[in-house]
Amino acid sequence: MTSDDLLARHRAVLPSWMLLYYADPIEVVSGEGRRVTDAQGRTYLDFFGGVLTNMIGYDIPEIREAVQRQLATGIVHTSTLYLIRQQVELAEKIARLSGIPDARVFFTNSGTEANEAALLMATNFRRSHQVLAVRNSYHGRSYATMGITGNRGWSASQLNPLQVAWLHSGERLRGLLSRLPEADRIDAAVEDLREVLATQTSGDVACLLAEPIQGVGGFVHGPDGLFAAWKKVLDEHGILLVSDEVQTGWGRTGEHFWGYQAHGVTPDLLTFAKGIGNGFALAGVVGRAEVMESVPAISFSTFGGNPVSTAAGNAVLDYLLDHDLQANAARTGAILVDGLRAAVGGLDCVAEVRGKGLMLGVEFVRPGTAEPDAALAAGVFEACRAGGLLVGKGGLHGNVLRMGPPLTLTEDEAREGLAILVEAIRSCAAEAVAP
Ligand SMILES: Cc1ncc(COP(=O)(O)O)c(C=O)c1O
Repeated sequence: MTSDDLLARHRAVLPSWMLLYYADPIEVVSGEGRRVTDAQGRTYLDFFGGVLTNMIGYDIPEIREAVQRQLATGIVHTSTLYLIRQQVELAEKIARLSGIPDARVFFTNSGTEANEAALLMATNFRRSHQVLAVRNSYHGRSYATMGITGNRGWSASQLNPLQVAWLHSGERLRGLLSRLPEADRIDAAVEDLREVLATQTSGDVACLLAEPIQGVGGFVHGPDGLFAAWKKVLDEHGILLVSDEVQTGWGRTGEHFWGYQAHGVTPDLLTFAKGIGNGFALAGVVGRAEVMESVPAISFSTFGGNPVSTAAGNAVLDYLLDHDLQANAARTGAILVDGLRAAVGGLDCVAEVRGKGLMLGVEFVRPGTAEPDAALAAGVFEACRAGGLLVGKGGLHGNVLRMGPPLTLTEDEAREGLAILVEAIRSCAAEAVAP
């Protein structure tokens, strides 16, 4: 079986709106550490980790063995109608780590479902289906989460069970507030929030649901402290704050365990997914007991928090904490961001090298302008692959290269990936300006 055959079969049987990366798509057949091997036997250093999901890396013995131990019991699934020891243990750990007092945890299979559950709780608690969301966000693929996704390219339906009002993100490069100096953007974002509440809602809004760093949006964010400034206004109205930590959680940003901690505020609800299962389907919401308890009927997830995925989740979390991967993210992320800034930050076509920890972006523009250059980003993306490095793409305009390697990345691997990135960016930038 060649990869080409598989591509033809894929196209014949799977819908075309399922995005496939690369002109010549890759079938990953094995992996170890931070490296994967494709069907042609080519090995790549992986700086995208299945979209920030293979958080610990590939074939990690502690996780494999924990899953094997669970499989050996003969129990893959029981349903949540029965007690699940792995689930209770993981919930205890997540409740403790969440920073939310007296927290409860509900497990789901995906980030979409986690956000959907958070919306269920917030709208019931507040008896309102009005929700605030942020421009350029991504929250999932159900109707409600598409409805609060502020990116037309990722929101496939206008059907929406919620009434949504939109806030400016306060990011540095794009959007109205980017015209203001950094020091003025929090005040402007707060003014925007007050105006939106007064002009587009009836005041009794359920929640604001926001990503501390927008993932699909290209790893952009408002100034640190923005969530706290927003929350002061939200508190005047009893509106809840929900932090979507699907990409920013578990220490990835290096400076904090959760993205919300950069803002000096604790959310009422927090949603998590991706990295916690290291590839096993595991996600959920953790939050204040009174909000979590506001669901007025049985809400049942057949697979949510099943024994295998929560066995993986416990092993992932133990590994993460035992090895202080947050500190590793800070250390190896600094090698990447400093190295990229020094080597390519000054190029005319690079608008910004940004990021925290192991969540890094490079935004490309037409030289000397702020006009997004998606073609250049795509060229660099392919050149990285040719050089043996997998990265991601993103941003509202598709002009951002995104890096979210496993948090176990070594310093040598960071330097190896950096060299490939720099070479790819320099060579594509030179081609772009050549006559
Ligand atoms: C911030 C954020 N929220 C929610 C989701 C949806 O998660 P899932 O694809 O697991 O449903 C994603 C997925 O990329 C995400 O990045």
